[in-house]
Amino acid sequence: MLSLLNWLQAMGVDAAVDDTAHDWLSRGNEAPGAAFAWPERGDPALGAKASSDAVRADPRQSTLRSRPADPLGASDTGRPRAVTPLGASEAETGARRIARAANTLQELEAALQTFDGCGLKATATKLCFYRGAPASDLMIIGEAPGRDEDLAGKPFVGRGGQLLDKMLAAIGLTEADVHITNVVYWRPPGNRTPTPQETLACRPFLERQIELVSPKIVVAVGGSAAKEILGVTEGIMRLRGKWREITAGDRKIPAIATLHPAYLLRTPAAKQLAWMDLLQIRAKL
Ligand code: URA
Repeated sequence: MLSLLNWLQAMGVDAAVDDTAHDWLSRGNEAPGAAFAWPERGDPALGAKASSDAVRADPRQSTLRSRPADPLGASDTGRPRAVTPLGASEAETGARRIARAANTLQELEAALQTFDGCGLKATATKLCFYRGAPASDLMIIGEAPGRDEDLAGKPFVGRGGQLLDKMLAAIGLTEADVHITNVVYWRPPGNRTPTPQETLACRPFLERQIELVSPKIVVAVGGSAAKEILGVTEGIMRLRGKWREITAGDRKIPAIATLHPAYLLRTPAAKQLAWMDLLQIRAKL
């Protein structure tokens, strides 16, 4: 059993999102959260063996037999499951309206807690809003929370985050001097890259967050965050270390991309490039 769990984890299956297994492929092209009836137990679509195995494995089989048609509406554990009943552009429009109404970071966080337009919420444990100072000259934006962040409810607290803190310390900064967040606020299952739809749904919140934090500099960490923040398509090696400008409300803010600490952990030789970027950031500050 331990070997099996280790293998599953190595394959990226490191989070249980429900008490029983589901055949997600049987949903066809249904959007996450759209009304969908799981096959009833004994349904040929579930497969006789899978069905009896699932019932044997779960002592609460009677509850499961009467589960609602859309299990993403509410979980058996009582933990509410987020849904994405809207298309990506509708979710983005809704997000924009809600995000604009937030006048403080607390209000923005409260709005995110109730926002159901990003499908990642359905599988994440916690919202990861930000860590560091609420208002700061330096705002750091990464790609997405990972496992450690999902458990802690804060961005960049795992091994990559620890390296990020060391990188900041190298230019004389502590957590209290920076505002750290991500392009999406919930962990993608298995740490996959967020989809464009997921990023789009979170985008209005991130834009409002930048306005409220009002940084002098924005640093995008890693290729995926850099593309999203800077609105470009080049790879991180071409993007990094060059100043650009982003717009937040009525302000233009200098922005730069650098290498992701997770990449630096795997490729220590690239630290010299990150160091050059850090020196630029220090000089600009
Ligand atoms: N990687 C990121 O991009 N963000 C985090 O919060 C953690 C790891």
